Amino acid sequence: MQRVQHYWYNQAIAEYTSAARTVELSHWMQRLAFSPDLIRDAIRISDDEMVHAQMCFDLAKLAGSEKNLPLNNMQLILPQEYPLLGKSLLIVLVQSYCFGETAAVPLFAAMRKSASKDSVLAAYDRILQDEPRHAKFGWVALAWCCENWPQAREWLVEITPIALGRMRKAYCDHPAFDPQLSQNEIDWGVFPRELYGEILERTIATTYSQRLAYYDIPLL
Ligand SMILES: [Fe+2]
Ligand SMILES: [Fe+2]
Repeated sequence: MQRVQHYWYNQAIAEYTSAARTVELSHWMQRLAFSPDLIRDAIRISDDEMVHAQMCFDLAKLAGSEKNLPLNNMQLILPQEYPLLGKSLLIVLVQSYCFGETAAVPLFAAMRKSASKDSVLAAYDRILQDEPRHAKFGWVALAWCCENWPQAREWLVEITPIALGRMRKAYCDHPAFDPQLSQNEIDWGVFPRELYGEILERTIATTYSQRLAYYDIPLL
């Protein structure tokens, strides 16, 4: 059960991190006078991510984990990568929401497909109910930036390959589980890591490419 514990514990870390970072994103959006409906969408997303984090943490506990989250080693603060807050927000938006949340939809759908334990299916169902809205938020907020900030399109051209490179680094080249996953681990929702890259590449070739074609950014 150790790999099951690990899997859900790591997932809880990812969801909690995303909740914390989305709280900060909402604050950046407030500082930049974003449209109020988009700010409220972001606040709702951070609330969803807290629910996901709790569900995943509970699954890790159910599988026997006794660990608390390693809060001091988690990336809970958004790095301001550029002197301009708007440009820093744009790279977060593209990387984590347009790209990250969009790839999360087929990834979680594939994970849910092989799982069979009720509490695992309930967690995946809740996550899958929310993720398409999170992805949509990313693309709508990107459109808002391009409508309202004269430099946004220029920044997008610069930011896209950086964000894409980071996505590939995070998703691709994961070694397969050794020994292979047991039926019990599959029932608990553990998913073969070597398939992450394939799912990402398919999403790049479809959704990312279609959406970015609108901004004249070819990905293929
Ligand atoms: Fe989530
Ligand atoms: Fe999400």
